[in-house]
Amino acid sequence: MTEAVLLVGGQGTRLRPLTINTPKPMLPVAGVPFTVHQITRARDAGVSRIVLATSYKAEVFRSFIDDADLGIEVVIATEDEPLGTGGAIRHALPHLQSGPDDPVLIFNGDVLSGLDIDGLVRHHRETGSDVTLYLTPVEDPRAYGLVPTDADGRVTAFLEKPQTPEEIVTDQINAGCYVFRRSVIDRIPAGRPVSVERETFPGLLSDGALVTGVVDRGYWLDLGTPLSFVQGSCDLVSGRAPSPAVASTGDALVLAGAQVAASAVVRGGSVIGRDAVVGPDAVVDGSVVFDGAEVAEGARVLGSIVGVGAVVGAGSSIRGAVIGDGAVIGRGNELLDGVRVWPGARLGDTSVRFSSDA
Ligand code: GTP
Repeated sequence: MTEAVLLVGGQGTRLRPLTINTPKPMLPVAGVPFTVHQITRARDAGVSRIVLATSYKAEVFRSFIDDADLGIEVVIATEDEPLGTGGAIRHALPHLQSGPDDPVLIFNGDVLSGLDIDGLVRHHRETGSDVTLYLTPVEDPRAYGLVPTDADGRVTAFLEKPQTPEEIVTDQINAGCYVFRRSVIDRIPAGRPVSVERETFPGLLSDGALVTGVVDRGYWLDLGTPLSFVQGSCDLVSGRAPSPAVASTGDALVLAGAQVAASAVVRGGSVIGRDAVVGPDAVVDGSVVFDGAEVAEGARVLGSIVGVGAVVGAGSSIRGAVIGDGAVIGRGNELLDGVRVWPGARLGDTSVRFSSDA
């Protein structure tokens, strides 16, 4: 039996305002909450029990899991105060049934990947590692934690968010999935916030623990920002990203009850949510339209997210924008490049052009 802890308690600040009402892992991606893609991938890799480590908006997970049948035992652990990534792993410990030397998988709740999960656990067992990290190469590593390894795959340092060229010693980053020997979790301090990246991992290295890395060059995406959220959703719909929770792939996913006018164009891996409406001559390209939203006649929605019940008025154009739940964009507006509209906000029929670059 392999157990896993899924870290889903973060506030998802980079994805606001979408995460004001819904925690990031519960946002719908390709028709189901994002966390379902992760849970079903873990299940298919042989994980038999998952502890969901919740904090922010824990009740949203609880009511979903109570009604869901995901073919795997899911247990919910909730922190009274957010304990950070390491503190959340330690807080999940009483819910684990693994023995002291057993491998326990840890997943960040916002990573979409094609990782060979079973292969990572195998590597962990074969090398006798205390912790094994999944690493992925990226072009620009400045926003991430760098994890250099030696010729034997042993991790030599943890370098958080390097800025100068001298600090960028590798393109391998911490991809947000680890295998811990269970007894290593026992040693994380309990009852206070701990960052696994800043405290636990560097501490293990200075204690001489065996920490190894596995570099996987397959699909990897951190869905933490609006642009990457849209990208991940489109990649799942079109089949570029793997998930057992996507029944069929194609150019678009139109969910039950949605109405798309015959003259509208929906493409680029877009999702049209349940009971949403896309009017005549509207274009939705590479975007996510949440449940009950409306894209009115002739409107254009490109690389954007339209929140639950939000309205994009006739002839309006949005590109690279996030429209919060229930917001109403009047006719003829243009919202570009990073503009975020808060839930319930109303923009009149003023033909105004908003751009965060302006
Ligand atoms: P941002 O605020 O946009 O950075 O997103 P985030 O809140 O998700 O933070 P981050 O991406 O750094 O977190 C990595 C993973 O750890 C995510 O899956 C979070 O849900 C999770 N996480 C972060 N902090 C906590 C915490 O205090 N408790 C629990 N249970 N999970 C956490």
